[in-house]
Amino acid sequence: MKLKLDYSNIIEENLGSIQGLKLDDIRKLIPKGGKILDNLNDLTNKSQLGFLTLPDEKKLIDEITVYAKSVKKRYDAYVHIGIGGSALGPIALQNSLLDSYYNLDDKPKMFFPDNVDPDWLNELLEHIDVSKTLFHIVSKSGGTAETAATMLYFVKFLKEKLGDSFYKNLLFTTDPVDGLLNQIAREYPIKCFRIPPNVGGRFSVLTAVGLISAAVAGINIKELMAGAQEMAEICRKEDLEKNPAFIFAAIHYLYMKKGKNISVMMPYSNKIRDLADWYCQLWAESLGKKVDNENNIVETGQTPVKALGTTDQHSQVQLYVEGPNDKIITFLEVENFNENQPLENHFEYIPEFDYLSGKTLGELINNEKRATEIALTNNQRPNITIKFPKVNANTIGQFFMLLETATAFAGGLLNINTFNQPGVEEGKIATYALMGRKGYDKKKKEILQQLEKKQSFVV
Ligand code: PA5
Repeated sequence: MKLKLDYSNIIEENLGSIQGLKLDDIRKLIPKGGKILDNLNDLTNKSQLGFLTLPDEKKLIDEITVYAKSVKKRYDAYVHIGIGGSALGPIALQNSLLDSYYNLDDKPKMFFPDNVDPDWLNELLEHIDVSKTLFHIVSKSGGTAETAATMLYFVKFLKEKLGDSFYKNLLFTTDPVDGLLNQIAREYPIKCFRIPPNVGGRFSVLTAVGLISAAVAGINIKELMAGAQEMAEICRKEDLEKNPAFIFAAIHYLYMKKGKNISVMMPYSNKIRDLADWYCQLWAESLGKKVDNENNIVETGQTPVKALGTTDQHSQVQLYVEGPNDKIITFLEVENFNENQPLENHFEYIPEFDYLSGKTLGELINNEKRATEIALTNNQRPNITIKFPKVNANTIGQFFMLLETATAFAGGLLNINTFNQPGVEEGKIATYALMGRKGYDKKKKEILQQLEKKQSFVV
């Protein structure tokens, strides 16, 4: 069951000659794509880049499966504490693959508080017994302010309940050596899983970052990784005309050059809606860069936007069909839903409902997607579709690997560093300074001086 990428609606024969691309435009990028692929393979073979070979880590999959079983037995609740790349993938996995109402009936209940909204965290506290809760702290750097603060917030209550044994309800996933979590783990025998140094935060969903919560909730992580492995093989193929990661990247790159600065991802399914949040971070942080590899100022990137079909047909689609033609839209389509009972017209005296009788909700949602696709294409709005034959662990694994590799290709085409995030680091440093972290006094002074000079206009 392979994901498919349908890019018919960007080809000029279908989209028209002004907005459409020629197949030749894509083919012309193949030599550059070949070099990017060689470089990715080279970095992977030298272990400088890790995401493509994560599915080979069979031992880790077994270790996590065994560990997850023990968590399921011991705890009533699991709280995942992380942010950005340490949270979005795990959240997308849960929501795609678990029953949407899992927490009503199953155990351990799963929570992902990925923000430091005090009211939100306090509400969670009201609904868990901390002594029966595992707190999984996930931070590659080990020091991110939001993650550290959320951990400290809960540790207070853990200490009140468990005293010196508080650490027994903590699990860390972090760098193998560096960072503040490792300092804590040297003081207390806290179980630690590792994020390989050659895998960046937003590429880490298929490490312990995403696998632990998935396995604890009963998701088949072997299948997830098998899907990722199949897609890694496809995306590392030399024949780039058949390589969906390259094609996705090339199309987006060509449209960026044509001034389409927005990439909308629009799943037509609630189950996979959070894949779009995960994609937004991956695309934004990887491609939004000030300088290229030669240090020229390029200020490049494409703003990712999440939309949900059919819901946003009644909210955003008017803009997409008739507003500025500055977007490329990626639909996510589920070809076969698990539940697909036909509807009946229970109100015969309303013949206007007859057209729904005998049809399934799956047919309706997919025809609505087709209708939006037609409206966009007729208005020369470029759109492509990633088709899921079914939503299951295997196809979700394929999706993660496809988009991660596509992002690496896109960064290569843009000639930027896909794997750093200096802009995020700048914000992290300013937060530390404003919150008075040791070692950040100079930065704090600079910020305060800057704020003093700032003219204020507030109404
Ligand atoms: O992709 C990234 O590197 C970032 O978005 C990080 O995931 C995010 O800032 C959280 O960092 P950390 O896992 O180090 O706490």
